[in-house]
Amino acid sequence: MKLVPKSPNGGSRKAEPLLSGGVPGFKKPVSRSRTIRIDFRNVAIAPESLMDKFVIRGGNPLVGSVRISGAKNAALPAMAAAILTDEPVILENIPDVRDIHTERNLLVSMGADVELGYGRASHRTTISCNNLVNPEAAYELVKTMRASTLVLGPLLARMGRARVSQPGGCAIGARPIDLHIKGLERLGATIKQEHGYIEASAERLHGGHIIFDKITVTGTEDLMMAATLAQGETIMENCAREPEVTDLAALLTKMGAKIEGAGTHTIRIHGVKKLHGARHRIIPDRIEAGTFVIAAVLTGGDLQLTNCDPSHLGSLIQKLEECGVSIKAGTDSMRVTNGHQLVAADISTEEFPGFPTDMQAQYMTLATQSQGTSIITENIFENRFMHAHELVRMGANIRVEGSRAIVRGKTPLSSAAVQCSDLRASASLVIAALVADGETIIDRVYHVDRGYERIEEKLKGVGAQIRRIGEILPKRAAAPSVVA
Ligand code: EPU
Repeated sequence: MKLVPKSPNGGSRKAEPLLSGGVPGFKKPVSRSRTIRIDFRNVAIAPESLMDKFVIRGGNPLVGSVRISGAKNAALPAMAAAILTDEPVILENIPDVRDIHTERNLLVSMGADVELGYGRASHRTTISCNNLVNPEAAYELVKTMRASTLVLGPLLARMGRARVSQPGGCAIGARPIDLHIKGLERLGATIKQEHGYIEASAERLHGGHIIFDKITVTGTEDLMMAATLAQGETIMENCAREPEVTDLAALLTKMGAKIEGAGTHTIRIHGVKKLHGARHRIIPDRIEAGTFVIAAVLTGGDLQLTNCDPSHLGSLIQKLEECGVSIKAGTDSMRVTNGHQLVAADISTEEFPGFPTDMQAQYMTLATQSQGTSIITENIFENRFMHAHELVRMGANIRVEGSRAIVRGKTPLSSAAVQCSDLRASASLVIAALVADGETIIDRVYHVDRGYERIEEKLKGVGAQIRRIGEILPKRAAAPSVVA
């Protein structure tokens, strides 16, 4: 088995000399500026990047400044929204992460023209859907990214038909999309489900009254997009209030949609005949910011986060203050310092503005280092504790009882070989490794690459000892089938 250093987010690069202590270093990140136009119709995940690992030596405090990227979960629906118009939609602050590349492949497979530019090109993508020929989201893409189902509503509204693979279960729970389907039916769609696909059609959607049985983020987004082109008024109740929903509504409004109430439980949409192109800047990634905050706190660091929006992180900031952390929040930056013993505090995940389920895993790592017992209750997904077992292997004292995890701190963490099960679980393991004694090897970091832009470069820039290694595998290595 041959191990070679890899570039962030997948590509190969030449081996670099070892630093003292045996840790190979990456060069200072160079600022990248490129604009590419590629036909990705047949590309899924490059198999050679699937087996990348991180090697992290713990013990260094994170000190310095980190620039937060655009929010993956806002960028994905925004890209799907481009389907709603035949004019170009220009999106800025798009993160350079694998899920964005998957979404680009998906749009291209339908006939869209997608230009993606990073670095000085402001992480900009220009999407033109003036020649959509294939209103289908194939299983090969949906199985690697559930958010692909976000194209269902826009395709139906713009083209009158859509064929989207059913996503199936995933690593964090069953995650059905029945609420998307029921909502579209209320807007007049006819929906058949066969051979693992959802086939939807409607001559023109009409307005309707939708009360979501349960709060769903992408469900709210999918239905909101569909309703923008429906005939008449749609009222949606029990909507998700996440900042990503509000950001999508802001983009749709720039495209000519008539939307009121985004960010509240009730959204009203007055359907229009046609939407036009627009330019929009994606909001900062609150979960990436929260992940760096917890990493800084645990390592006893002093970190300045720039290009972030602390107003989206209220519940996390409040909880960390309860644990004894000092956070100074500005309008678009935050400073986190911690030299004190952390005190245990319970959390319970809720929809926004409650404590985000996407921060639960990272908080669990923090709880392993807090004095006392923390009870973590996961209310959104039924199987989102996979990281607990890996943390236990690193020395944590955690007992999982149904939807609760009881974490007894403070136990020293020691290095081990661990494995990522989903995106946020991976983040919790990276943070644990940063404070563990010795060198931790984290396997399956393709999960991290789905949602964190060049995380190892950002961490290295503030003092962490982290490097990426990859294995040379036979070309036909299997793609992961279980994704979050
Ligand atoms: N649900 C249903 N039926 C549906 C839709 C949802 O029963 O039709 C259930 C789900 O099974 C879950 C709950 O409702 O128990 C909430 O799920 P939701 O639909 O809100 O989740 P999602 O829209 O699929 C988004 C994020 C997730 C994040 C959740 C919760 C995107 C692309 N994904 O997923 O992000 O955890 O909201 O906030 O926006 C991540 O980034 O790591 C991630 C998993």
